[in-house]
Amino acid sequence: MKKLIVGNWKMNGSMEDARVLIANTINSLDAQKEILKKCEVVVCPPFLHIPAVRHAIYGFPELRFGAQNCSAHEDGAHTGEISASMLRDSSCTYVIVGHSERRTLCKETDEEIGEKVKTALRYDLSPIVCVGETQEEREAGQQQEVVGRQLAAALPKLETYHNLAIAYEPVWAIGSGNAATPQDIQEMHAFIREQLKNYSKAHEDIRILYGGSVKPDNAAVTLSIPNVNGALIGGASLKADSFLAIAKAS
Ligand code: PGA
Repeated sequence: MKKLIVGNWKMNGSMEDARVLIANTINSLDAQKEILKKCEVVVCPPFLHIPAVRHAIYGFPELRFGAQNCSAHEDGAHTGEISASMLRDSSCTYVIVGHSERRTLCKETDEEIGEKVKTALRYDLSPIVCVGETQEEREAGQQQEVVGRQLAAALPKLETYHNLAIAYEPVWAIGSGNAATPQDIQEMHAFIREQLKNYSKAHEDIRILYGGSVKPDNAAVTLSIPNVNGALIGGASLKADSFLAIAKAS
């Protein structure tokens, strides 16, 4: 199974910044093509920057791209939303669903996230479903209960999952510089792997990513933990060198 290395650019930068970042990412990956033997590399720019990224990637299809969110609804009267069919039409292959910033800031519920996953799958997008507990939930020892509940709401029972991936991102580790310990990651990824048996016959093919302060200096250790099949990377994906150093570490 190839590792899935995903850059989440979040709400950063101008159009020109996006053009420079994607050009640097392509050039750097082109110079280190051996990375692609072990990894699938994906970038998720803000919606408005997707056309520029698509244009740049045209001659370099080994690099994939996706979006950071999609609507749960079909095209129609949903002002301000972007549908899964629009993402498909823009050649996206992946979509991040249920990121903790959206759960917190946009009040997305488990049920809504489950609907988004179904809609994304209907349009042949591969959802990257984010789950993870808050600091308070971990201190109360509730991390498995929380992640188990999030998975139950997000995952429909299906024969195949069209390359769906889960990203375990403890909320307190995101953007904090403090990644979870290898032991915490190992325990949670083993728990998620076990839970996946309830949802799909193809559960062994589902990649489980870790996200939350992944940097070049902790990437090799993190990506060698059992059941860690990739990484979801925020801050460190905004520089081509650090993003690809993480991919290289695997
Ligand atoms: P971070 O973000 O790598 O900056 O911690 C990860 C994420 O939010 O997906």
